[in-house]
Amino acid sequence: MLKLLLGPKRPPRAKPQVADADEVAIVKPDQSRFGPREVQIWGIWLTASDAALAYYRSTLSLHESQNAEKFRFPKLKRCYTLSRGGLRILLAHYLGCPPNVIRLINGPNGKPELRDSSPIRFNVSHSGQMALYAFTLGCELGIDVEELRELDDLESIALRFFSTGEVSELLSLNPEERGFAFFRCWTRKEAYVKAIGDGLAIPLNRFRVTLLPGAPARFVQIDGEMGTASDWTLQHLEPAPGYVGALAYQDSQRPTTIHPTVRADKLPEILHAR
Ligand SMILES: CC(C)(COP(=O)(O)OP(=O)(O)OC[C@H]1O[C@@H](n2cnc3c(N)ncnc32)[C@H](O)[C@@H]1OP(=O)(O)O)[C@@H](O)C(=O)NCCC(=O)NCCS
Repeated sequence: MLKLLLGPKRPPRAKPQVADADEVAIVKPDQSRFGPREVQIWGIWLTASDAALAYYRSTLSLHESQNAEKFRFPKLKRCYTLSRGGLRILLAHYLGCPPNVIRLINGPNGKPELRDSSPIRFNVSHSGQMALYAFTLGCELGIDVEELRELDDLESIALRFFSTGEVSELLSLNPEERGFAFFRCWTRKEAYVKAIGDGLAIPLNRFRVTLLPGAPARFVQIDGEMGTASDWTLQHLEPAPGYVGALAYQDSQRPTTIHPTVRADKLPEILHAR
């Protein structure tokens, strides 16, 4: 969502819809790919050779290919193709089927999910040159990543979106510490709204997360019907230098495997070898 405030425009978000009619039903996931309650996190760099890009493109549904074509800038088209293709390649790994037969739908506020009843839950985020993915069985989760960068209006964004407690913690820091703290807070909040799937429908100032340097990632307080802070787990992520992220889910802490971030070209062969 920070991209909505700061970044280049994307094409309009697709309405809830089913995937292409020629896609076939998928098989059940290979549950042995997950340890008990395990969350697996994968990161890819959104750069690839022409051949790899063509392969990623070939994994997309007709609708996704049309979406890719709506991006005016080639770089954004490439990022979308690699990011969505990466999701399909990873889901194919867990489902044991070709990536292009996977049927995805968007929930009411745009959260992609598997159309067929499947215990696999996943979420995706992208920023800068990275796409970050989280997968688990039987527990909705949300992931967010941001490339660390200078923001001129960090304090005014915080005043607009953060809770009062978060704002006062942020402003208590030296200006040099504020940038990282801002992104720690932002990604933790985004991971939560993405886990629920409601996006902007949830006011970001209605719940509070930790942000101070050295403070473990956790929810301090959550208002409303989505459980209390202690029902939720929040995990800090630093998937590569210059990037910060967070993972959120409504469950006690799950074992988490964080795979090293790799170039998009390498992902298919790494998965093939597993
Ligand atoms: C979902 C949302 C938080 C994404 O934040 P972002 O920082 O722009 O983007 P990220 O890179 O972290 O995540 C984007 C990915 O999240 C996933 N996503 C999209 N909508 C989602 C949702 N509601 N919940 C969880 N994940 C979502 C998609 O995989 C998307 O990737 P794609 O665009 O390549 O398909 C933000 O766009 C949002 O709030 N959207 C909902 C819009 C909404 O609420 N509309 C109602 C009007 S108030």
